[in-house]
This record gives sequence, structure tokens and C-alpha cells, in this order.
Amino acid sequence: MTFDDVATRVPAAIRERAAALDAADPLAGYRAAFIESQDVVAYLDGNSLGRPLKATRANLTRFVDGPWADRLIRSWDEGWMNAPTELGDLIGRVVLGAGPGQTVVADSTTVMLYKLVRAAVDARPGRDEIVIDSENFPTDRFVVEGVAAERGLTIRWIHPDPAAGVRTEQVRAAVGPRTALVLLSHVAYRSGYLADLAAITAVAHEAGALMLWDLCHSAGAVELALDEHEVDLAVGCTYKYLNGGPGAPAFGYVARRLQDRLRQPVQGWMGAADPFAMGDRYEPATGIRRFISGTPPIVGMLPMRDMLELIDEAGMPAIRAKSSKLTSFAIEVADELLVPLGVRLASPRASGERGGHVTFDHPDFKRVTEELWARGVIPDFRPPHGLRVGLSPLSTSFSELAVGLTMVAEVLTQERS
Ligand SMILES: Cc1ncc(COP(=O)(O)O)c(C=O)c1O
Repeated sequence: MTFDDVATRVPAAIRERAAALDAADPLAGYRAAFIESQDVVAYLDGNSLGRPLKATRANLTRFVDGPWADRLIRSWDEGWMNAPTELGDLIGRVVLGAGPGQTVVADSTTVMLYKLVRAAVDARPGRDEIVIDSENFPTDRFVVEGVAAERGLTIRWIHPDPAAGVRTEQVRAAVGPRTALVLLSHVAYRSGYLADLAAITAVAHEAGALMLWDLCHSAGAVELALDEHEVDLAVGCTYKYLNGGPGAPAFGYVARRLQDRLRQPVQGWMGAADPFAMGDRYEPATGIRRFISGTPPIVGMLPMRDMLELIDEAGMPAIRAKSSKLTSFAIEVADELLVPLGVRLASPRASGERGGHVTFDHPDFKRVTEELWARGVIPDFRPPHGLRVGLSPLSTSFSELAVGLTMVAEVLTQERS
């Protein structure tokens, strides 16, 4: 099945609206920068694994031949040692609204999250509670449960509406003089709900707590201003909207004012003040370097550079504007094609409350997703019965989205008959 086959089956009015949106899209040209996938009709999962760029294919080969094959170990002195902070600064400037010296690239998100949660609660002695929500991504909940058990802390759970997310008043009601840390996702992994980062950070601070944001589903989709909003700590994935490739390392942000007061628990030689002194005792580096543990994953840091270059060129305001249009169009098409089939929107309707993805619920969506994948239409399934549509603004077109959702309607109709 090809894109053109399915395109003829999209209802004419929807096809025309999609074509008009594509024609008016100032970012449409960026699609040509991505490698075409052989049997994919519509890729609706850019928030899980971003598509590779053509530039990345060339740059990976160049890297193997040059810095690796030719320069060998000398490359550590010629740039690799500084790659975690240099790339961190680039992510900070292009997507996080963070000045230099506060962002580092290392580890997986899970490991970075553990390091920052542990460092944060230890920096608030006398406070014995962590605030988190029951709809947060499993890794966030599991890490907090692990740290709470290690440190004898209590978890104060917020229970948000699963089709929305954590509201500021819920945080206000949960924090107090015992709160050491509040950990929330800025964009909820399931519903796509966009939390009020500025207001919630202020509420955490009023209670004397530190605020840690999981930016996995925000970085590269939603505008961020971490410095301006005085965020303390943040983590995020780079393989989603930053197209870093499967297993690309995480980024961690630690506000400069806190860095020398925080002590992270995975004390490795690469975060030590002088790694090559091979000293007897661990002495943490000053600044953001102390949040590194082991040897930086240099190869895994390459592809995201290509995407960051495109994001820098396109600009986050334009990317966010297209992202909002894509999610609005997804809801509009679903209202016409899917709601009559019993599908329910499981994301906020107000575009200001949404990140870059939307989720729809239907009891048959597990089976439907399997069939869609077999036909080259690739959304995500999220239990209990959510079909998650992730729309990466630089690589997704409105026509692709219309084709994908038309196929969802077709498969759902067939499954029911
Ligand atoms: C919101 C959120 N947090 C954390 C993670 C975990 O990241 P990792 O598997 O890189 O540790 C993910 C992964 O998808 C995520 O979506």
C-alpha cells in the first residue's frame, strides 16, 4: 500500500483542507531533509522516535572515517571531552531557553532522573516528601519510589484527570513545609497535557521545594524558557523531537545557582574535578560537569546535532505554531472520522493546554494499532486503550496526518464488522 493509494480514500473535504494547510505551511520544505522510509504511509510517532535526517547518514560516515579512524584517542583532547557540555549548551540555547553552563548530555533519561532526584532531596535536609503524579511516565514514578525507599521519604501523590494533567491548584494543595522536591512532566506522555511550568515552579518555590521538570515530550515541540522561569532542574530525551536516534543520551539541566550545592550519587571518574589525576578520593568537578558519571556517549551524540541545526534555523516559535496546527487538525479530522465510530478524545481540546501529540481512546485500539503498523501507518498504542498520535513538526505534513487518520477509521470499521 502506498501513500497515493490511501490519499485517494481520504474524504475530499479533508484532503483539500490538508492540502491547503500544507501549501500555507512555512516549514513544509524541511520534510525533504529527512530520509524517506520504505514502506511507511504515515509516520505518526515522531514523539517516540524521530526520523533520521539525510545529513545524519553522511555525518556518521564522516565521523567514523575522521575523528574515530584517523584521530583515534587523540579526539578526546580534540573535542570529545567537552562534547557533553558543548552539546548541552547548544540544546540549552536552541530548545530550553537556558544560558550556557547549565545543561549536560549524558546517560539515559532514567539514570539522569535518578541522579537529579537523589541530589535534590539530599539538598533539602529536614524535608521528607516528594510530590509526583500518578499519571506520570513509569520511569519517573519508579525512580521516585526507589529514591524514597533509599532515603526514607514519603511520596505525596497527585491524581490528575488522565485525559488532562496536573493543574497548578493540585500542586498547591500537595506541597508544604515537608516537600523536598516536586517532579512533574511538562507535557504528559499520554494525554499530551501541557502543564503550566511557570506557575507550578513558582508554587514549588513558595513552599521551599525544588522543582524538577521531565521535558521528554516538550524539548523540540514546545517553547521553553527554563532560566526565565527559574526552573531548578530538568531532564529530557533526545531521541524524540531532537531526532538523536534510538537510545541517544539524555540531557540534564541544573540551574547555575544550585550546581555547587548539589551532590549527585553516581560518583564516576568523568564527573570528578580532575579525571586523569586518577586520585584516591572522589572530588566533584565544579559546575555542570559534576553531573557526568562515566565516559560520554560520543557516537550517540552525533545525530541530534543535525536536528538541532534545523530547529535553530526554523526557530522554536514557528515549530510550536505548526505543532499546534497539527494537533488541532488531528482533533478536527478525528471529530469527523473517528468520533462517529465510538472514539473519544483523551487529550485537552484547548490548544494552549496541549503539547505536540494527541491521544484517542477506543477499546479496540490495541488490535487496530497492530493492523495499522502492518499497513505502514505508525501511531503508538498506550494502555489501556489509547492511540497516540505524535506529530513532529519538521517531518510531518497535514496530508500525511489526514491519510493516517483515514486509515485508522478504515481499520477500526473493519475490526468492528
Ligand atoms: C516522559 C518520559 N520520561 C522518561 C522516559 C524514559 O527515558 P529513557 O528510556 O531514555 O530512560 C520516557 C521515555 O519514553 C518518557 O517518555
